[in-house]
Amino acid sequence: MKSLKRTKDITPILGASFNITINNQQVRAAAGETLLSVLLATDHKRIMNNDHHRHCGAYCGMGVCHCCQVKVNDQFKQRACQTLVQPNMTVETLSNRFCEEGIK
Ligand code: FES
Repeated sequence: MKSLKRTKDITPILGASFNITINNQQVRAAAGETLLSVLLATDHKRIMNNDHHRHCGAYCGMGVCHCCQVKVNDQFKQRACQTLVQPNMTVETLSNRFCEEGIK
């Protein structure tokens, strides 16, 4: 499995860390950080594929705009900015249930 590098961190991650998987690539994540933090550190700016087939990126960073929804452990529409990373978490960006299930 390929690995992602955290090239956009402002400061290095500190404390206990573990792997999560983003789009079939492993990356280190620290306990207590949000999934949005990991996505931004790995230069993911287009995060969500909305129901109008438009790509969106995080806007508010605090759970209000709903522009950061991703698929986490096979559950659609999880807000990355409100989700704390967990060991072995799997994440898909640009996923959309309606598109994947052929619902219009
Ligand atoms: S960035 Fe606005 S809800 Fe997550």
